[in-house]
Amino acid sequence: MSMTNDLVVLAKQEVGKSAVARIQSNSIVGLGTGSTTAYAIQYIGERLKSGDLKNIVGVTTSFQGEVLARKYNIPLTTLDVIDHIDIAIDGADEVDPKKNLIKGGGAAHTQEKIVDSLARFLIVVIDSNKLVDKLGSTCPLPVEVIPKAVTPVMRQLEQLGGKPEIRMGLRKAGPVITDQGNLVIDVKFKEINAPKTLEVTINNIPGVLENGLFVGITDLVLVGEIINGKPIVREL
Ligand code: 5RP
Repeated sequence: MSMTNDLVVLAKQEVGKSAVARIQSNSIVGLGTGSTTAYAIQYIGERLKSGDLKNIVGVTTSFQGEVLARKYNIPLTTLDVIDHIDIAIDGADEVDPKKNLIKGGGAAHTQEKIVDSLARFLIVVIDSNKLVDKLGSTCPLPVEVIPKAVTPVMRQLEQLGGKPEIRMGLRKAGPVITDQGNLVIDVKFKEINAPKTLEVTINNIPGVLENGLFVGITDLVLVGEIINGKPIVREL
């Protein structure tokens, strides 16, 4: 059953809190992107401020994450100076029963995949609306593409059975531009039966930087839902 917007916010807050409760002091933490992860970043800041959590450094996955980490006084580092990430928290647009994901609703999937796949433990935080039996059933698959290659890449995505559309900006004329200065093509597939094969096939198209299929890298999915008016978090 789908939730109203207010209840979705409550579920996102609760699931963010539950993920942050699993972070231990002295950790390098991957900070995902999106509205659910935004609550997680806020709660990391609150745990640091209260002294409950100590010696945390974050690795961001977007401009949004940098702004939020600064707002909540979370010290940041970069991939150039660390050799591991202990734990990452990130959102998703779809999650299947094998914990495979579609990400990129916020056009940040390229940096997210780098950070999430380096993490020793990846927690994905979602509300229950994101659970699907098969990837691709509710969301198009985001593909980040170098602007010059957009037309040939769209042709090849059509040959793979997808319906590609360039993502357009809201309150901005023209396309969405990623944090790397590229375009996003959203590709609707009827259903995605072999996510790993599709992930690799799309990434092999010249001009594609990264697509939003995250296969086999999630350790734990925390699902926020509202039962009898109260937010509940369960593990998948
Ligand atoms: C950004 C993402 C987000 O994690 C995903 O879109 C989920 O966002 P939200 O928590 O706002 O629903 O992949 O690229």
